[in-house]
Amino acid sequence: MNPVSLDEIVRRVEEIPALPQYAHKVLKLTEDPSTTVTELSEAISRDHALAAKVLRMANSAYYGYARRIYTIGDAVIILGFGTVRNLVMAASIYHVMDRELPGYVLARGELWKQSIVCALMARKLARRCSYDNPEKAFVAGLMHDIGKIILNTYLSEAFAVILDKVNKEKVPFMTAEEEVLGFNHAVVGGKVAEKWNLPEELVEAISLHHNPGGARISPALTAIAHLTDVACMTMGVGLGADGLLYPYDGYALKVLRITHPDLEEIISEVSDSMFDVDSLFPE
Ligand SMILES: [Fe+2]
Repeated sequence: MNPVSLDEIVRRVEEIPALPQYAHKVLKLTEDPSTTVTELSEAISRDHALAAKVLRMANSAYYGYARRIYTIGDAVIILGFGTVRNLVMAASIYHVMDRELPGYVLARGELWKQSIVCALMARKLARRCSYDNPEKAFVAGLMHDIGKIILNTYLSEAFAVILDKVNKEKVPFMTAEEEVLGFNHAVVGGKVAEKWNLPEELVEAISLHHNPGGARISPALTAIAHLTDVACMTMGVGLGADGLLYPYDGYALKVLRITHPDLEEIISEVSDSMFDVDSLFPE
């Protein structure tokens, strides 16, 4: 099979729906220190479907609030701007992520589940290694594999060739993906992040999540995206065709100044709280 052309990839990226206007507005508001709780709550509540999704997720066990949260205003006060921002982000991209990806042998819902678990793990890891913006780490974890949505289309045809390469040449799945298709899902994911006008360190973290040594803008954020991706695979979450075919990059551990046992501890903490992962589905 011939590699996919850049034009074709750009065209596919264009087909991905843009982030809704309200999402941009909410993201902007959360970044402005002069925004009040009322302003942010009103911006979210203006879109009823969004508000309902945010409330459903806010009430999941993952946000650790024992009593029920009934209003967006309460969610903003109790959970804080950063967490609410993440919930809006997650609710906005849910419809893009919630699809079947036969090319990666992922059933409908699996990419979403993997992404949300990665997002929670990324935030935990960020806190553990004192990365200054755990909420940004959450978004990196949430979106790191978004490029799979685009490359999926081509994978069914190329899959046998890629797997053959992995087995015979003992290269990681992504290297084989890149050699056969001409692109890997990380680079393509970076293009989606660019289209969505995400900050450049997020574009980098997504583009290089399998090659953290190449990061220049934020090696720490990229290292977090990488380690959470491999850790999720280790846990067997969203384990598709390429699961277990990615090795840990020792450089990423070094950048974050954490050890293998630290990482294993985080994996087991996240695994322990996996009982209610379905409650994180916004619909
Ligand atoms: Fe990946």
